[in-house]
Amino acid sequence: MTRASPADPRPLTVLGIETSCDETAAAVVRLPAEGAAQVLSSEVASQIADHAPFGGVVPEIAARAHVEVIEAIVRRALASAGVGLDGIDGIAATAGPGLVGGVMVGLSFGKAIALARDLPLVAVNHLEGHAVSARLGAEIPYPFLLLLVSGGHCQLLEVAGVGACRRLGSTIDDAAGEAFDKIAKSLGLPYPGGPALERLAAGGDPARFALPRALLGRDGFDFSFSGLKTAAARLAEGLTAEEDRRDLAAAVQGAIARQLSERTARAMRAYAGEHRGEALRFVVAGGVAANGAVRAALQAVCAAEGFAFAAPPLAYCTDNAAMIALAGAERLAAGLTDDLDAVARPRWPLDEAAALANPVHLPGRKGAKA
Ligand code: KG4
Ligand code: ZN
Repeated sequence: MTRASPADPRPLTVLGIETSCDETAAAVVRLPAEGAAQVLSSEVASQIADHAPFGGVVPEIAARAHVEVIEAIVRRALASAGVGLDGIDGIAATAGPGLVGGVMVGLSFGKAIALARDLPLVAVNHLEGHAVSARLGAEIPYPFLLLLVSGGHCQLLEVAGVGACRRLGSTIDDAAGEAFDKIAKSLGLPYPGGPALERLAAGGDPARFALPRALLGRDGFDFSFSGLKTAAARLAEGLTAEEDRRDLAAAVQGAIARQLSERTARAMRAYAGEHRGEALRFVVAGGVAANGAVRAALQAVCAAEGFAFAAPPLAYCTDNAAMIALAGAERLAAGLTDDLDAVARPRWPLDEAAALANPVHLPGRKGAKA
């Protein structure tokens, strides 16, 4: 077994595996000693069709679907990278947070390869994968301020490297993607709702419907979307005309983009105060970063606050294994590996100290998302 040390100048080639929600994904990423990481392959098998009839992800269906395709997806990732297991330096598998049945499938598969080939295993936090995702193919040095907005998470973090994320704020109820999905459902749109709502909103009048502006002007960097969700669901009842639905979708998208950018601007001011004289960088990652209105609002905030804006390519915003492979490679380069008894964790905050110190975000039904 070859284990890299921080001084190791060789590139590291890592196989990543992601199965925490409804995508079975595998990827091969090469991390050189200098310069940006290269994605050699990134395969994603989406289960959208399996879950669509139920209007959301069904955990049992997800776990079974992962079992059915994981081997083929891993083989495909290796083949399209043109790399055999002999050319792999380590295995990175998502170990949480997520739907634990699915996480176990990918993590066990990764452990089996690591054991059989005597390769180091890295049990990756899915959120750390999103945190590094903008570094796939682009040189974005640490530290940066990160807005992680996905279906399960909505948080602001200061990212100084793998294993060095400090949480500044997070949602006190729903994640932004969850709000998109649930409101889309009340508008009769198909799952997953975020992209469908964005399409419906195109050309709509965002000013026609008034929606609650949660936490506006409040101290801190937390988010809240449940009031918006309830108000939008009420307004959606009985709306049948296409134009009305379009205007409501535009209002919802605008309200989400506004809250994300308002809270981010506050965090930027605090971050800038702590990083005087340094280059100020902002990254938005996670599925909701694919939304054009959200990106535009955040770009405007970056321009106003003097931050450089970065976001992963669209394919690496939503769940993928390239980001898991990169987090694994960066950990491997730092000598951070895991034992084969690493457990699958349904809940796993990135910044455990902040999560435990703040009772709002303690593990619980809502804590998982925070
Ligand atoms: O990162 P991701 O694939 O999975 C999680 O880790 O949660 O994010 C999925 C979320 C879903 O809620 C989906 O509706 C949302 O990202 N999403 C979008 C868009 N594309 C994906 N939301 C708004 N607009 C989009 N274009
Ligand atoms: Zn995700």
